[in-house]
Amino acid sequence: MTPDQIALIRSHAARLKGIEDDFAAAFYARLFQIAPQLRRMFPADLAEQRMKLMTAVVFAVNALDRPEALAPALHSLGARHAAYGVTVAHFAPVAEALTDTLAVALGTGFDAQAQQAWSAALGALAGLMAEGMNAAALAAAGSAAQGRAAQASHGGS
Ligand code: HEM
Repeated sequence: MTPDQIALIRSHAARLKGIEDDFAAAFYARLFQIAPQLRRMFPADLAEQRMKLMTAVVFAVNALDRPEALAPALHSLGARHAAYGVTVAHFAPVAEALTDTLAVALGTGFDAQAQQAWSAALGALAGLMAEGMNAAALAAAGSAAQGRAAQASHGGS
């Protein structure tokens, strides 16, 4: 991402201050319109989820130019998402819903340049989360293999 893209995204995030909950509600409504099958992955009451999502988004926007802070946080966020049953395929509807919601919230401010900047940011976040998800999957496979090996060495099958 270029410094200009990061600055643009921060200026957009600043415009969401005070309307975070409405923005998150619009995002989830759009997400479940695009991908209704994802609704059952989330709790019935989304109030807490809306707050957590926006806190994570604000953190990520602030840390876009600090990979040393961004990477570990998103790796562990990704690992937790693996446990929620999230796969990399789920990022496409989430990115689409977020882009649509931004377009509505920012109006004419959401031009081609803005779209490109957000797409780069979401790609970077999804990439880091995917690394965390893969690491979690590898660790789970590793401990399953270790369990099987331990069982085999004790005469189990
Ligand atoms: C930009 C990418 C994303 C961000 C910043 C994000 C952020 C968060 C945060 C902060 C939480 C709260 C729990 C925690 O911190 O572990 C959470 C939970 C969750 N997220 Fe995401 N998420 C993202 C992408 C996704 C995607 C692609 C899915 C797939 C459908 C998803 C599904 C979920 C689910 C199912 C939960 C748990 C809800 C619960 O049982 O309480 N998230 N997310």
